[in-house]
Amino acid sequence: MTGTEFIHRFEPATSAGSPPLLLLHGTGGDENDLLGLGRMISPGAALLSPRGRVLEHGMPRFFRRLAEGVFDEEDVRHRARELGDFVAEAREQYGIAAPVAVGFSNGANIAAALLLLRPDVLAGAILLRAMVPLSDPPKAELGNKPVLLLSGQTDPMVPASNSAKLAALLSQAGAIVTHRVLPAGHQLSQADVTLARDWIGKVEAKAA
Ligand code: MLT
Repeated sequence: MTGTEFIHRFEPATSAGSPPLLLLHGTGGDENDLLGLGRMISPGAALLSPRGRVLEHGMPRFFRRLAEGVFDEEDVRHRARELGDFVAEAREQYGIAAPVAVGFSNGANIAAALLLLRPDVLAGAILLRAMVPLSDPPKAELGNKPVLLLSGQTDPMVPASNSAKLAALLSQAGAIVTHRVLPAGHQLSQADVTLARDWIGKVEAKAA
């Protein structure tokens, strides 16, 4: 790759017809973390899984934060551009269509930022425990892109008002948002996997 290097894993599709997945890990994760989740959600889809380039006490992330839940928004913008460039280059290199992001926690937050800042990059997104990534996002045009937002009812990091605001923000920008609040905390549950798998099945059926 010529431009923005991300350490990453790529697994080619083993069956046609499913959109590629862009897997975005949480704080302290890496490019291997969500491969299993990706395979469960959409068996046979191509998987593109970068490692976040920011280190917080040695833990990879996708952008800097000032404190838990308080983001360095200049860095969010910069890193979203960088990730958008990486996806564009990877699409060319691997010959894949625009991916659906599957992001958890910090990875969900950069996916939300990508939707708002670079709406052309993603075909849709599954946002697991996401927050509003920018206090003053630009007016994005998401043209009916599908977004699944799964929040945890007892998530100590993401207040209910914050995820509701993100759902509203993405809907106002034109995304078709499905927002479900699960009986869970910040960690993922079996219900996340089942709902994500069913949702992506419907997205595929619509695109077919
Ligand atoms: C973030 O920094 O993106 C959120 O606080 C979630 C996380 O801990 O990664």
